[in-house]
Amino acid sequence: MTTGIPTPSSFDDNSLNKAFGQVAEEARKEAASLTDLDSVEAFRLRWLGRKQGRLNDVSAWLKAAPPAAKKSVGERFKVLKELVEGLLEQSAGAGPTDASLAAEAVDITLPGSRRLMGAEHPITRTWNEIVSVFAALGYSVGVGPEVETDFYNFESMNFPPGHPARDTQDTLVIANQERRPLRDRLLLRTHTSPVQMRTMESQPPPVRIVIPGKVHRNEADDATHSSMFHQVEGLCVDTNITFSDLKGTLDHAMKALFGSSVKTRFFPSFFPFTEPSADVQISCIFCGGKGCRKCKHSGWIELLGCGMVDPAVFAFAAEKQPGYDSKKISGFAFGMGIERIAMMKYGVSDIGQFFSGEMRFLGQFA
Ligand code: FA5
Repeated sequence: MTTGIPTPSSFDDNSLNKAFGQVAEEARKEAASLTDLDSVEAFRLRWLGRKQGRLNDVSAWLKAAPPAAKKSVGERFKVLKELVEGLLEQSAGAGPTDASLAAEAVDITLPGSRRLMGAEHPITRTWNEIVSVFAALGYSVGVGPEVETDFYNFESMNFPPGHPARDTQDTLVIANQERRPLRDRLLLRTHTSPVQMRTMESQPPPVRIVIPGKVHRNEADDATHSSMFHQVEGLCVDTNITFSDLKGTLDHAMKALFGSSVKTRFFPSFFPFTEPSADVQISCIFCGGKGCRKCKHSGWIELLGCGMVDPAVFAFAAEKQPGYDSKKISGFAFGMGIERIAMMKYGVSDIGQFFSGEMRFLGQFA
């Protein structure tokens, strides 16, 4: 790109002296009028800039010069370049004028702008805490798909088609799949239990795994229920696994999560995929079990579901992994809601706050 310095019409010494003299004079004049750092930088770009610098035009004279004149053009160019660089150095060294300094001054007494530190979301934090309690017991961590088939979410978990237990997990289904067999129809998983089956199909016993993840149910949101929430599933399968192993494991986990003074108790319950099944309650962490509003004056709070893996579930797993023979192995499973546990740990009374994106709420966990 040209910056407007014409190539001399002749390359004898006189013409060259005149042409280089004019350019040098221009550079001197411009350098004398520099007032602040911005104008010094503009001068540098205008003269020495790689693409648009004026010295580029002058260096082009070298090409245009006849062979006999190339040496003298080169020498003069070197002197001119040193002059411009010298002018630049002087201008930068002389520094900005008082006026320009005042315009660019930074008031160091003003408070700085604070950069917000990121922090783990309380659900992520609780998720990690639960997982690490079980990791310390030798459990590995698994994942499974959030869009699941009817087979894994229900059928293989011993909810046969039309079984009333399906109604306890009101399901969001993917549209337009009526032409598929029921077992292949897609839905948003209602619990993390289908990953029990996916895990057993992919590895023989023994298994010790926890599976954290997001689940969905077609439920109205209220203070303690959300249509999207998170669960941590647990599965332990080996020889001679008994209900007391289940009790001991969950009692330890609850103490690790809520403090060593917490007690647990197990109530009979029903899940199609475990037999026997139980709901686990912990002594109220707010009143220490004396009874308060939070525990509805019972001293206990219900926290999760569990049970011994039903032989019907092992039978589905054995179709792919014959090692799951319920005559030889046994196991337990459990599933807990992460929000429920986070609400207890942090004294949150409305589940919706976790998903509100409200910085005043989230900032408390930073
Ligand atoms: C189940 O989902 C079983 N799959 C758990 C299980 C696994 C039992 C393995 C036995 C063996 P349930 O529907 O009760 O169970 O849900 C488990 C936990 O998820 C509840 O204790 C509760 O903490 C949480 N939960 C359930 N529905 C909601 C909801 N709408 N919003 C927030 N948390 C919920």
